[in-house]
Amino acid sequence: MIYVNENFAKLKAGYLFPEIGRRVAAFAQDNPDAPIIKLGIGDVTEPLAPAVVEAMHKAVDEMATHEGLHGYGPEQGYAFLREAIVANDYAARGMDIAADEIFVSDGAKCDTGNMQEIFGIDNVVAVTDPVYPVYVDTNVMAGRTGEGDDSGRYGKIVYMPCTAENNFVPELPTEPVDMIYLCYPNNPTGTVATKEQLKKWVDYAIENKAIILFDAAYEAFICDDSLPHSIFEIEGAKKVAIEFRSFSKTAGFTGVRCGFTVVPKEVVAYTKAGEAVALNPIWNRRHCTKFNGVSYITQKGAEAVYSDEGKQQIQQTIGLYQSNSDMMRQALTEQGYTVYGGEHAPYVWLHTPKGVDSWAFFDLLLNRANVVGTPGAGFGAAGEGYFRLSAFNNPENVKEAMDRIAKL
Ligand code: MLT
Repeated sequence: MIYVNENFAKLKAGYLFPEIGRRVAAFAQDNPDAPIIKLGIGDVTEPLAPAVVEAMHKAVDEMATHEGLHGYGPEQGYAFLREAIVANDYAARGMDIAADEIFVSDGAKCDTGNMQEIFGIDNVVAVTDPVYPVYVDTNVMAGRTGEGDDSGRYGKIVYMPCTAENNFVPELPTEPVDMIYLCYPNNPTGTVATKEQLKKWVDYAIENKAIILFDAAYEAFICDDSLPHSIFEIEGAKKVAIEFRSFSKTAGFTGVRCGFTVVPKEVVAYTKAGEAVALNPIWNRRHCTKFNGVSYITQKGAEAVYSDEGKQQIQQTIGLYQSNSDMMRQALTEQGYTVYGGEHAPYVWLHTPKGVDSWAFFDLLLNRANVVGTPGAGFGAAGEGYFRLSAFNNPENVKEAMDRIAKL
């Protein structure tokens, strides 16, 4: 008899964004003329940078020749891209990361979800609450979390609430934890962590032999140079952290698919007997077994993100999304909402009106303003009473959405 992985039955409802998509599709079917504006999932709207398009076209032309055909590439990514990443994302900010510590992949969602596979099943997972659901759901699927309760919390996960009451700064856990997921700039709250705040986590991880799984997918939105773009800007982090990066939000690659993960050679986990084992070769082994590399064409496009023109062009697009979040913060504040985030991140996090829970606010916005957002409760129990609006859209739509919300 074939047995099913019963851990899947522990998952709460559907994955958040398809669930929102389902509700929006049902609404659109009943209201075919409703001019829906989507500020829900953080999906880009602006075209790829011309430098990226040109590089990809060139790569396609190469692939059309015998000499230029690229078959299977290195699973970890081509040297040209890994070296561009090292030079621009790390060396330029004073970090010592080597090309063989970079693993190019089809995006940070897969890597943040897959990374848990290389850790023992008995490890205790700690997440901020609210949190990007991938970290939790993939650990549920693996069987690391125990059962969920009615609020959507799992027995064996340690939740670190991040709410207005603690200024969205998670407290260090009081019980021992092993796998700590952190995301800064934060999805969904749009808040940031300072170097001093991250240093506390690195020190905690060193002292407790824990690991930090650091999602930096939104680092390109940081405007204040004193804020860290990478966990590796923090002393000691190379011993205890793995970092995830993405071209999705940086360069509009949500549909192209490319990201990378940094697994330093120093970072270790331990056998039950207490022996330290380097994680870089383990991740390399896993990556080579389960992944055949990102296409040459995509990696050529990603490389062009680091060219002078590419940098300038993507900065322009990021600037457009940043001005959207400024517009949203200002309009919502004027309308009497309390808003957070959105300064160094493409997400604005707001309190729902008194007495309206986050799914009710979702329905209200969809039905009465035809605007789609994301209910805070979808990111965890502590997200109840909050709502996320994404800045990924064109300024006209964002302005129109703000005007409609004002009329509610
Ligand atoms: C989000 O809206 O939270 C993200 O776009 C989802 C993702 O990156 O997978």
